Amino acid sequence: MFNNRLIDFDDGQKIFHLHNGDISYIISVEQGGLLSHLYFGRYVSDYHGGRKYPRMDRGHSGNLPGSKDRTFSKDTLLQEYTGNNTGDYRNPACIFENTDGSRTVDMRYVDFEIVDGNPDLIGLPHSYVVNDDEAETLVIYMADATTLMTTKLFYTIYRNFPIVTRHVEVQNDSDNNIMIDKIASMQMDLPKQELDVISLPDSYARERQVQRQRIRRGTLQFESRRDSSSHQMNPFIALTEPKTDEFSGAAIGLMLVYSGNHQFNIERDQSNQTRITIGISDYGFEWQLASGESFITPEVIMSYTDNGLNKMSNTLHKLLRNRVARGKYMHQQRPILINNWEATYFDFNADKIQNILDSAAPLGIEMFVLDDGWFGHRNDDKSSLGDWFVNKNKLPKGLKDISNRVHQKGMSFGLWFEPECISEDSNLFKMHPEYVLGVPGRPRTVSRDQYVLDFSRQDVIDNIYQQMSKILDNVPIDYIKWDFNRNLTEVFSEALSVEKQGEVSHKYVLGVYQLMNRLTQDYPNILFEGCSGGGGRFDAGILYYMPQSWPSDNNDPIERLKIQYGTSLAYPISSITSHVGASPDELLGRFTSLYTRGAVASSGTLGYELDVSKLSDQEKDEIEEQINFYKAHRQLVQYGHFYRLESPFESEHVSWMFVSQDAKQALLFNFTVLAEVQSDFHLTKLCGLNPEFQYREEKTGEIFGGDELMNIGLYDEPIQNRDFSATIRFFQAK
Ligand code: DGJ
Repeated sequence: MFNNRLIDFDDGQKIFHLHNGDISYIISVEQGGLLSHLYFGRYVSDYHGGRKYPRMDRGHSGNLPGSKDRTFSKDTLLQEYTGNNTGDYRNPACIFENTDGSRTVDMRYVDFEIVDGNPDLIGLPHSYVVNDDEAETLVIYMADATTLMTTKLFYTIYRNFPIVTRHVEVQNDSDNNIMIDKIASMQMDLPKQELDVISLPDSYARERQVQRQRIRRGTLQFESRRDSSSHQMNPFIALTEPKTDEFSGAAIGLMLVYSGNHQFNIERDQSNQTRITIGISDYGFEWQLASGESFITPEVIMSYTDNGLNKMSNTLHKLLRNRVARGKYMHQQRPILINNWEATYFDFNADKIQNILDSAAPLGIEMFVLDDGWFGHRNDDKSSLGDWFVNKNKLPKGLKDISNRVHQKGMSFGLWFEPECISEDSNLFKMHPEYVLGVPGRPRTVSRDQYVLDFSRQDVIDNIYQQMSKILDNVPIDYIKWDFNRNLTEVFSEALSVEKQGEVSHKYVLGVYQLMNRLTQDYPNILFEGCSGGGGRFDAGILYYMPQSWPSDNNDPIERLKIQYGTSLAYPISSITSHVGASPDELLGRFTSLYTRGAVASSGTLGYELDVSKLSDQEKDEIEEQINFYKAHRQLVQYGHFYRLESPFESEHVSWMFVSQDAKQALLFNFTVLAEVQSDFHLTKLCGLNPEFQYREEKTGEIFGGDELMNIGLYDEPIQNRDFSATIRFFQAK
């Protein structure tokens, strides 16, 4: 029976059962102290030992080292965390290199402990508890008796979320240095079953497109080797049944709370079993662990549901909003901002900014963000990164003057930084060429005319902190946009010895986290927004420091349908910023109506990014209307339940909706991508409403029952017959 405890240990059968009334995660200590995965799924009230791994002699599958029992082999056993080179030929979770050159790791169970709450992952972002009663953590101790490496496997189960989090700590108990070649955060082996994997790949300006494929024999790897969580492959996958859709079927969400190189490996083995290993990518990774030292991996968040992808997303959104995001703004309504980037690019001065402010403030816009180009002598993207002092040629009266102008309009003031990068044409480069990542004697790869600072060095972190804090201490600043416009190359630190060069990538990420932590702790009133050339670092690691991020430089609303849809699979709406840009769109050149741009941007954290001073009165009126509408419904959009109804990856009709926590309010968004002549009538069935409530649709005043809207549905309005069109309908329960 379910008791108040979240983790049970059956000493007789040597079985751990993590449970919370929604989910169960079951592990057994098998013959020889191997740790075997039994189950992760819907809650099981009374587990008696089902699914114990059968015994069978399989050809070419060796026995346990030291045993002659042919019916038991590491080669096929479903396991929890495997070492290397002792008869399990599937992808290993860890590889350590011993002083004799051997890379043999045989981890066996030693002991366990159960602790309340969840532990701190020092220096790394992670989910947390507010009080210890919210979760319990199982720590399983495994050891390799020959090399004296101890691995602690951490499993935290939340009481009120269908979530288990995992990470690993490895400690060197020998007298020697041991090299870690690979260390995953988690492994899970699943029995034979048909599975799909959904991932979120693509490229700059096309971030997080939904890709779904069947898992077949062989290995699939979803990875970033860019030292960034990347535009190209987000650190998130979902494993689903083939029949799983938005509303039904099993889905396991797997998310790495990390912003650097990552690797999600899926292998379907000789017995059609599936192994999943997730962690820091082993590409270029090596970490020298001295005697007595330990290494902590990033955390993996695992969610389970059998109610489809919307439920999976809903669970992840709630956890990320409430137990990963931190700080003053995690639950606050986010300000509607105007950013000058696409209005002026680098070509601005105080007068141009004043014009934007004069036009923006009366529309109800709440914050002005001064983007790239305000510092050093930067007039294009070729100089000044690293010189975080005001560009007096452009802004002779300094940043304080701009901040005053903004505040005088009753708006708050935001500023752009790119703390991790450096231009060759900068004072910082002249003074400290050693601060830049690069291999001595080799030319560095240039990207957007810039290099990357060596954030594995404490002096670099301190220098940038001091420059930034000097500005923040002197100018009233309410918001920072933290950009990062390239990926790492020539990953080498002049400050580290030869055998420590494989550590630079991870140390870089830890350095970035350290600076983010210092700034967010020392300036708790500043709202931080993550950005990386659009959405190149949209991940749960960044979310721990910054409650919102810029998902893409692509402002075209039709392209944004896919980007926001894909992003919503894993990340909460409050974290997804979305701006109304100009038409034609800056990147694509597509013409779209202001209404459609407003509808898409209002489906996230709304902002504007166009020269409002050049708009007609009619356009300004329309924007004012959009802003009033958004303000009235901002709580619902940013913190309500989000439901994807129809996918832009499958249909020309796209729809999604937001429902308030009490189900009394709902917003329905319908979009038509390409319309058809003599089109069929299109029907949308709502969801998440209270079947017993009566809802009034705001525009028409019509009344509908909750079950009527969900079971019978509504036809799209006729306007939907136009290309790139949108309609928004608001429902209020009586
Ligand atoms: C990339 C960002 O995504 C843009 O919004 C803008 O801030 C530019 N960088 C500025 O260089």
